[in-house]
Amino acid sequence: MLVAATAYRMLHHWKPNNVKKDVVVLIWGGAGGLGSMAIQIVKAAGGIPIAVVSSDGKIDFCKKLGAAGVINRNNFKHWGPITTEINKPEKFAEWTKSAREFGKAIWDIAGKGKNPQIVFEHPGESTIPTSAFVCETGGMIVICAGRTGYNASVDLRYLWMRQKRLQGSHCANNENCKGLNDLVIQKKVDPVLSKTFKFEETALSHQMMKNNSHPAGNMAILVGAPKMGMGKK
Ligand SMILES: NC(=O)c1ccc[n+]([C@@H]2O[C@H](COP(=O)([O-])OP(=O)(O)OC[C@H]3O[C@@H](n4cnc5c(N)ncnc54)[C@H](OP(=O)(O)O)[C@@H]3O)[C@@H](O)[C@H]2O)c1
Repeated sequence: MLVAATAYRMLHHWKPNNVKKDVVVLIWGGAGGLGSMAIQIVKAAGGIPIAVVSSDGKIDFCKKLGAAGVINRNNFKHWGPITTEINKPEKFAEWTKSAREFGKAIWDIAGKGKNPQIVFEHPGESTIPTSAFVCETGGMIVICAGRTGYNASVDLRYLWMRQKRLQGSHCANNENCKGLNDLVIQKKVDPVLSKTFKFEETALSHQMMKNNSHPAGNMAILVGAPKMGMGKK
């Protein structure tokens, strides 16, 4: 419920920028906990989920969940916050060139000129400049975390001229939880459980998340349960 209901709120709550049929959604960390839920929630609404990952090994995982296409972020170099260096024309040209190439990778999947109307954000500092750049006019960058840092920078010209919305989102209310739960009951969203740890392995699972070396999907920890499948022998 943590990641799935949060993803549901990010995608359905913030009207009129909620996901609908044919809405293109860029999903950072498509093979992660939030991302794997977001891909399925967008697909269930008839939208077009485009996932971003850091290795080609995660591409099939995202496609099986319903991603229309997957982009490997390691094919691009312009990550990190924008600094005042960007005011030098050559730095601005260099950054913009790489950001445009990333935008082109989105068009290669969604179709020429089709920018994401929703950008599903959680890496934060490292990706926000790009999210704000590629987001469609009148679209929304919706964010629930800042895994790579909290001091996000945005070229405000793209934000105001293109009238984009930067929306914070946290957890979920009862309505969001029910909406998500209904999708699970309809078998449109699977929790994609990757690995279940014993309670004593809690630190190990946290370390794997910190190192970004955990398997795709969501991990679980047994709390007060001796083994998986409670009640079964
Ligand atoms: N506010 C809320 O209500 C709420 C709820 C749930 C979770 N969260 C927060 O959301 C964050 C993500 O949670 P999660 O469970 O989805 O974690 P996760 O399973 O680790 O997924 C995060 C994904 O982010 C991607 N990533 C890592 N470094 C990145 C970078 N430098 N640039 C772009 N992408 C990067 C990774 O994918 P690749 O390496 O493949 O790109 C990773 O799979 C955490 O900080 C968590 O605390 C907030």
